[in-house]
Amino acid sequence: MSERQFRTIIEPFRIHSIEPMRLTTAAERRRHVAAADYNLFQLRAEHVLIDLLTDSGTGAMSRDQWAAIQHGDESYAGSPSYTIFKTAVQELFPFPHVIPTHQGRAAERILFTLLGGPGKVVPSNTHFDTTRANIEYTGAEAVDLIPAYARDPRAWHPFKGNLDTDALETLLAERTADVPCVMVTVTNNSGGGQPVSLENLRAVRALCDRYDRPLFLDACRFAENAWFVREREEGQSQRAVADIVREMASLADGMTMSAKKDPMGNIGGWLALNDDDLAERANTLLILTEGFPTYGGLAGRDLEALAQGLREVVDHDYLRYRIKSTAYLGEALVRSGIPVLEPIGGHAVYLDARGLLPHIPPLSYPGQALAVALYEVGGVRSCEIGTVMFGRHPDGTEHPANMDLVRLAVPRRTYTQSHIDYVIEVCLAVAEKADQLPGYRITFEPSALRHFTARFTPLTPPA
Ligand code: F0G
Repeated sequence: MSERQFRTIIEPFRIHSIEPMRLTTAAERRRHVAAADYNLFQLRAEHVLIDLLTDSGTGAMSRDQWAAIQHGDESYAGSPSYTIFKTAVQELFPFPHVIPTHQGRAAERILFTLLGGPGKVVPSNTHFDTTRANIEYTGAEAVDLIPAYARDPRAWHPFKGNLDTDALETLLAERTADVPCVMVTVTNNSGGGQPVSLENLRAVRALCDRYDRPLFLDACRFAENAWFVREREEGQSQRAVADIVREMASLADGMTMSAKKDPMGNIGGWLALNDDDLAERANTLLILTEGFPTYGGLAGRDLEALAQGLREVVDHDYLRYRIKSTAYLGEALVRSGIPVLEPIGGHAVYLDARGLLPHIPPLSYPGQALAVALYEVGGVRSCEIGTVMFGRHPDGTEHPANMDLVRLAVPRRTYTQSHIDYVIEVCLAVAEKADQLPGYRITFEPSALRHFTARFTPLTPPA
């Protein structure tokens, strides 16, 4: 008899330990968000019911990861936990040098301190905000090269995270010596959690070879990317995800990693490299601010939890559930006519705030308006990825971002289907009164990464 297929997606785990959530009233939430100057990063987390601000470091660790924590060895130098960590990393990413850092941005800072500087330009499909900030901080320029189909929130393309290879070729031909490296972010987080195909990575590699430039992966969501490759790319459907990941790694010269995403950690990251000389210089910087090379910015127990997380994340049952449950949220919103970025990404659903709130111009921050409303109405915390995050340029000018999105990021193994059903209801309730939402004005902003600490005020005062 053939295996019967059931429609319901079940979480492929049971709950072992629980965290209580506190309910608040809409009136309380309106007070809390006003006190936070309408910046959701400034809320107290206990005032949030369902926290979809980020999938970074917010996932649930497994029983075996907690057991691995107990196995951690805290020796300052030569800890066996480092060997366990390095072996697990190299199983998927066989780079000879694996340098642990406290999180992804520390790896970025080290890499771009070495490769950046005035006059340099670093292309990527889309730089994440910390990557861009770390590049710009050195005086270098960060450029995003995405194909036209990736700019249209509704255009369906299986690999909307791809880097525009024509644009890369033009840049490399014109400014070869200014390009210290090429980056590819998998999946493309700021571009909607969209995957990059192996075919695109191979084409980028070929250009890097032609112009003799190194290629680095920003590989935070490598397993989700590999799952999409397996599902969508011709000839890949029979391969193990781990095998696809190894092929992705084989096309690069190194990687930066935030281990708070697919490696299932609450903290951690690494920089991995082929180049011996670069690795030696990176280790010197590491010792300055992170720590000795066998622990970087982490405790031995963190290294062990990450080693176990790396084994769990490439499991096909987990990835099938992960990708399907994100799609479950996104597809319910699409069916209700709420504009979302399509196809649905791996770790998050991106609401198209500019599409939902056409009465709010980009420089009055439709994404912020939508994110505040989701919190006020249902206690759901999301994240603006649009003009607030990307609108202010290093020369001081402000321009609308490519898109005004609101990201509902799904923490790994944390929320159940009923939590997600509640989020869907909250989105529908907000969409019903979309035309009444006010735009916002910024009353304070810092010199960089303004979305974390900017203060806002609604353009129409609350009734
Ligand atoms: N690269 C990408 C693609 C990311 O998504 C992140 C973090 C980083 C680098 C930096 O890593 O936080 O460990 O320093 N993204 C989180 C997010 C914060 O919410 O998307 P980190």
